[in-house]
Parts: sequence; structure tokens; C-alpha cells
Amino acid sequence: MPNIKHLLIAAIVLACPLFILAVNFGDPCDPTTSHLNAYLTYIDACDDPTGMYACAQNSTCAFKTCVNTNYLKGWSNSTYKFPSRCMDQTYCPDNGLQCTPLVAQGGRCELDRDDECVGGASAICLNYVCVIKGVPIGGFCGVESTQFTYSEQTGEEMTGTFQRDNCTVGAYCNSGLCVQGLANGEQCTQDRECFSNSCFNNGAGGVGYCGIPPDSFKEVPMSTWVAIGVSILVFMIIVLVALWLLHRYQSRKEHEKVKRFFDMQEQLRQQSGRDTPDMTEGAILLGTPRLYAHSNKSDSSIISDIRNRMSLPGTRPQSQMVNE
Ligand SMILES: *[C@@H]1O[C@H](CO)[C@@H](O)[C@H](O)[C@H]1NC(C)=O
Ligand SMILES: *[C@@H]1O[C@H](CO)[C@@H](O)[C@H](O)[C@H]1NC(C)=O
Ligand SMILES: *[C@@H]1O[C@H](CO)[C@@H](O)[C@H](O)[C@H]1NC(C)=O
Repeated sequence: MPNIKHLLIAAIVLACPLFILAVNFGDPCDPTTSHLNAYLTYIDACDDPTGMYACAQNSTCAFKTCVNTNYLKGWSNSTYKFPSRCMDQTYCPDNGLQCTPLVAQGGRCELDRDDECVGGASAICLNYVCVIKGVPIGGFCGVESTQFTYSEQTGEEMTGTFQRDNCTVGAYCNSGLCVQGLANGEQCTQDRECFSNSCFNNGAGGVGYCGIPPDSFKEVPMSTWVAIGVSILVFMIIVLVALWLLHRYQSRKEHEKVKRFFDMQEQLRQQSGRDTPDMTEGAILLGTPRLYAHSNKSDSSIISDIRNRMSLPGTRPQSQMVNE
């Protein structure tokens, strides 16, 4: 019955992806097949849609117990306890199986996992070995080159190269020796070559120029502070001068008013001749600013007005005086 045989084989071949996709605790696996793909994403031998399993050293799939993120898509809390972050001189490896003690200098680490090495911020995982990123200018150094695939915005797949070295800050590894980093504006292909550690290129090893990274702290130059100080000073002086000019203008107006008052009083006194005692009333009328200070009438017409009012005692209505 060859037909039934063929059908069986076809059924097994079709069902295979289902078996590969669904992973269960204790399933056999080969830990050496866990790897980083072309995009440098970690793919476990026990990879499945839930992402809950990792291939343990005993070649069976086990639950992950640690994470380097706060969120795991597909994790089921009811199936297994949510993994925790590693603390106290331990790190969580790419497979997430369990927290592991930090690696001493010279020990093996995973690609770009500087956090797996003892030494804090100055530690670097270079070519899978923990070293200190602190070789001085003139010292022997090494370069790590990593090829990776990335998608252009057009969807086109491209390959790039990312390089790192263990030269100290501001220096880079050139033919096995650390040399001074390139100044801003010089041509570069990798961040590591720039003194600023920032190469403005396509990010995949293309040609660019060294520059200041956009998020860096910008020191304000002395000249800017001087310019700000001078601007404030000049502004203050302008305001003070304007206030002084305004004050001078107003006091001159006031002086003119006072002078006009005394001039007119003098004229009134002369025209009234002997009637000095009655001058009190004339002085009060003159001292009432509404009568003359804001009027366009000439001094002599105001004086004759006042004289008319003084010669008609008792008949002056108050409103006439005020509304002049
Ligand atoms: C294999 O290792 C995992 C994790 O270390 C453990 O949970 C599991 O019980 C082990 N399986 C066997 C068969 O020893
Ligand atoms: C699972 O548990 C973790 C930690 O206990 C929690 O942060 C997370 O929100 C839980 N996830 C779900 C889907 O309940
Ligand atoms: C820097 O890296 C090179 C090559 O990897 C290595 O030989 C050297 O010992 C490292 N230097 C330090 C100080 O870690």
C-alpha cells in the first residue's frame, strides 16, 4: 500500500513545525545550537512563541529564571514564576537560565555583554574575553569587529560592521597600538576612532566625520557669559537713563508751571496797583491749576479773567471756575 505510506509521511512532515514550535519543560535540546542571528538577536535552542524556555547544560529545555528587561512578551505567570533581575555581583546570561557570578578579567563573556565582566564601567567584553578598557596611548590593544544585518527604511537588507577596542577614553586602537583619537571634523567610520567617541555616519561603518554627540553636556564659553552680563548691564543703563530723562522733562514742566504762576502773580500785582490785601484771592485763583495750567489762553487773558472775577464778589458760580 504505497499510497497510505505516502500519506503518513506527508502528515508527519506537515505536523513537524507544530512539534518544533511547541516546547515543553524537559524536552531534549542541544545547547550548542543556541546562537545570535544575523541581526544579533539571541535565538535559544528551546525557542518557542512563549519565550519561557532555555536549553540547559543537561540538554533539556528548562524555564528561564532571570531577565535583563522588565517585560517578556508571552510569559505566563500561571505556568511559571516571572523571572527576576540579577543582583549582587551576578549577571543574567543571554539565555536567561539563571543568575551567574560576574566574570573576572580574562574570563569568557558573551558578545557585547560588558555588564558580565568585573570592573564596572571600565570593563569591556572584547572578542568574548573580559578586559579593562583602559590601555593608554602607545599600549598594545585589540579590536573587535562585529558583522550585523539591518533593514534600511526601504526594507532592503544591509550588512554593517561595528568595531570596539580596549584603548582608554579619547584614544583608539590603530594597528595594535593605542593612538590619540581623531579631532572633531576629521573623517571616521567608527565611533571608537573619534576623541569625542561619536562618528556621524550611517551607523553601519560608512564614512562620516567626528563630532560632539547631541546628548553631551555643552560647556558655555566664557564669551557667552560676558555677552550676557554686558547685555544686562546695558539694559539697566538704558532704563536708568530713560527714567532720568523722564524725570528731567517732568521737573522742567513743573518749574515752568511754578514760574508762570509767579510771573502772572507779579503781573496781577502790578495791574491791581495798591490793592495788595485782596491779592490773596487772586493768588488762590492762580494756584488752581485747572484755571490756567492746562489752558491755552495767554497769561494776560487769564489775568483779566481773574481780575473780572475778583471785581464781582459773590456772583461767581463755582462751576464756571472749574469748567474753564
Ligand atoms: C536540567 O537542568 C534544569 C535547569 O538547571 C533543571 O531544571 C532540570 O530539572 C534538569 N533536568 C534533568 C533531567 O536533570
Ligand atoms: C507577572 O508577574 C510579574 C512580576 O511578579 C508582573 O510584573 C507582571 O505584570 C505579571 N504579568 C502578568 C501578565 O500578569
Ligand atoms: C586589550 O586587548 C588586547 C587584545 O584583545 C589584549 O591583548 C590586551 O591584553 C588588552 N589590554 C588590557 C589592558 O586589557
